[in-house]
Amino acid sequence: MKRRTPVYINILIVLGLLLVVFYMFSQTSDFLTSRYFLGTALISIIVVFIQTAIGDLIENEKFKKLTDAEKAAYLKEKNVPYFQYLWNGAFKSQSEKEEKDILIDHGFDGIMELDNQLPKWWLGLFYFGVAYCILYVSSYFLTDFAHPYKEYDQEYKEQIAAVEDYMKTVPQATIETAKFSEDNVEEGKVIFQTNCVTCHGEGGKGGIGPNLTDGFWINQPEKTLFKNVFYMVENGSKNNPTMQAWGKNGILTGNDIEKVAAYVYHINQEQAPITPAQGGAAPQGTEAHWEKSN
Ligand code: HEC
Repeated sequence: MKRRTPVYINILIVLGLLLVVFYMFSQTSDFLTSRYFLGTALISIIVVFIQTAIGDLIENEKFKKLTDAEKAAYLKEKNVPYFQYLWNGAFKSQSEKEEKDILIDHGFDGIMELDNQLPKWWLGLFYFGVAYCILYVSSYFLTDFAHPYKEYDQEYKEQIAAVEDYMKTVPQATIETAKFSEDNVEEGKVIFQTNCVTCHGEGGKGGIGPNLTDGFWINQPEKTLFKNVFYMVENGSKNNPTMQAWGKNGILTGNDIEKVAAYVYHINQEQAPITPAQGGAAPQGTEAHWEKSN
């Protein structure tokens, strides 16, 4: 007669499984105080007790049918503490007689194969894995428990909001603080391609708006080239509303203007002008004599 698992271990296993399943569906530990969890736990514990009571009855009936020697052996075994019994069981090997019973006819070169039972803990884990897998896959596809797209959307929105918040507080360059930096040229080019290229042409060669690569300028409110561009992008042209006030109108931030101004400075000062012969617009305004520092 096999020894049975004590009731408290069964209760612990059931509670453990309930914790896993409830956590899987709620994703927080709030369920611990919920009526559903406590109710399910209570009912499960009662079921375990009922199952144990039925087991006791069956055990008693079987016990009565044992011979005296078997009864003594069974009682002796039952006196060993449960965990010690499990521990011993892990190292128990079959007797010669038992081995004969489970010998498979696969002998080769004197090596024998035994049809051993799989260990209980292994089977337990295996069945748990299968049940968990079925539960997980079916709830993933059939219920509302996992919604990766919704979660992605939510996180995406939160991040965009966080970036906007950050942009509101991040210090923005002003015409006083802005400086030319080589590092801004690449990003400035992207801003130029998005906002300015329609009028000022590829590489600033001019079109509806003037050629930005030559030395002639209609508007010269500032003394240095970099600040002049910053001023024009921030405030637009007083004489010609086609060139709008990108900064004042809230389309570009101070930091964006600092970058696009760096790009315009770069194509004007660090590259050869695109002349009319090369497809550039003819010079407009007067020749500028910029002060060196930017
Ligand atoms: C809708 C067409 C248009 C767009 C888009 C535009 N501009 Fe202009 N831009 C003009 C016109 C037209 C002028 C000439 C204004 C004037 O006559 O005073 C001008 C003038 C300028 C000037 C002064 C040039 C000078 O000779 O005085 C700068 C610098 C400039 N734009 C930079 C930019 C930048 C940088 C952008 C992108 C953020 C941009 N512009 C977008 C049309 C445009």
